[in-house]
Amino acid sequence: MRVLLGVTGGIAAYKSALVLRLLKEDGHDVRVVPTAASLNFVGRATWEALSGHPAPTETFENVPSVQHVRLGQRADAVLVAPATADFLAQMAAGRATDLLGNALLATEAPVLVCPAMHTEMWNDPAVVANVATLRERGVHVLEPAVGRLTGPDSGPGRLPDPEVIVAALYEMSGHGGASSPAEANHGTWGDLDGVRVLVTAGGTREPIDPVRYIGNRSSGLQGFAVAEAARERGAQVTVIAANVTLPLGEGIERVDVETAAQMQSALASRAERADVVVMAAAVADYRLAAVSESKLKKTGDSGLTLELEQTPDLLQILVRLKSESQVVVGFAAETGDATGSVLDHGAHKARRKGADLLVVNEVGVSSTGQKRGFGTPDNSVTVLNSQGAVVAEGAGSKVAVAHLILDSVSALRA
Ligand code: CTP
Repeated sequence: MRVLLGVTGGIAAYKSALVLRLLKEDGHDVRVVPTAASLNFVGRATWEALSGHPAPTETFENVPSVQHVRLGQRADAVLVAPATADFLAQMAAGRATDLLGNALLATEAPVLVCPAMHTEMWNDPAVVANVATLRERGVHVLEPAVGRLTGPDSGPGRLPDPEVIVAALYEMSGHGGASSPAEANHGTWGDLDGVRVLVTAGGTREPIDPVRYIGNRSSGLQGFAVAEAARERGAQVTVIAANVTLPLGEGIERVDVETAAQMQSALASRAERADVVVMAAAVADYRLAAVSESKLKKTGDSGLTLELEQTPDLLQILVRLKSESQVVVGFAAETGDATGSVLDHGAHKARRKGADLLVVNEVGVSSTGQKRGFGTPDNSVTVLNSQGAVVAEGAGSKVAVAHLILDSVSALRA
C-alpha cells in the first residue's frame, strides 16, 4: 500500500526511521512528509534515502504536480509519528500551515496518529481535548507508551516501539503485512513527478468528401487511461485526442484533432518538449490522394474506386527525432494470422519501429464472438522493448493496464 508518513518535531523522530524501514521491508511504498521543526531532529537526507522519494516539507515545493492535494489523495493510509502537542492542536483546528497539514485535509485514507511528549503535556487539558476531537472525527490515536522520557523523568508519553506502530497501522488499514506483487504493480506515487507526458489517443479520420471519412474503431479509452494514470503519478500531461468524445480528468491539457495530418502538426510543436510520448492513437495508414470538395454522387451502377496514399508514420518520425533521454512508447493493435501470432507480429513491429517500448494487444472479435481491445473496459497487453523482448505483461481494467505501461516507462527512466 501507499503510506504517507508525517514526522513532526519531537526527539522520537529517529524511531520513525525504523518504522519506515519496517514498512519498506514489507514492500510498501512510503512517502515521508517531515515538518520543518522535525528536520532539527532527523535530516531530510535520511527520509529521502530510506524512502527512495523526495521528502518535501513546504506547500510551495513542486507546485506543478499539486502535491499538497495529491499526496493525501493517493495515500492508502496515513501515519503521523511522532505527533507533537502542537501538531495535534493544528490538526484538531484543521489548519493547513505546511505540506503535512494540507495532505491531512486532502486525504480520505484512514489516519493513525502517534503522540509523543512529556507526561505533563500529554495530560494537559488542551491536549486531552484535542485528542478527543481527533478521535471523534475518526482519527486513530495510538496511546503513548509508559516509560523513560527524554529527561530523567518517566511516565506516559513515550513513542511506542516501531513494531507496535506498524502493527497498529496494519490493524487500522485492514492490511495483513507484506504488500502483494499486484499492489506493488499498481503504480507508485510520485515516480512521474513533474515529468512531461504527451499522449495521443483515439483514431484519426481521413475525409473522403465533406460528409464521409475513413476511420477506425479506436475509442480512446486506453490512451485516456494512460493520461489519467500519468497525471495521478505526478506527470504534467497533454493529450492529443483524435475524435474522442470522452471527458478527460482535471489538470490535463487537451488538444482535439481529426486527421493524421492534424495529429502530425499537433505533435510537431509538442513532442520535443515532452519527456515521454505515448502513441496510443490509431493513426490512419492511408488517406485520400485527393479529397473531394463536394459530396460524391452515385453514378450509374458501377462501383467506386478511391485512390489512397500513405500517411507518414508519426511514430517512426518521433523515434528518429527523439533525444537520448526521451521515452517513446508505441502501440500495436494486432490480430494473429497465417503468417504469425499476435506476439510474432508485435515483436517484428517493435524491431521495425524502434520505439523504446511497444504495447501489443490483440484486437478484433474472437471466434466465440467476444470483443477484444476496442471500446471494451478491459485490456490485455504485452510490453516489448525495441528488440522485441517482453518486459511486462498483464491484463485488467484499462486503468490497471495504464499503470502497468507506466511502470515500464518509469523503469526505463530510472
Ligand atoms: N502510427 C503512427 N503513424 C501512422 C501509423 C501508425 O504513428 N501513420 C503508430 C500508432 O500510433 C501506433 C503504432 O504506430 O503507436 C503502430 O500502429 P499500427 O497501425 O499497428 O502500425 P503500422 O505500422 O500501421 O503496421 P500495420 O502494417 O500492422 O498496420
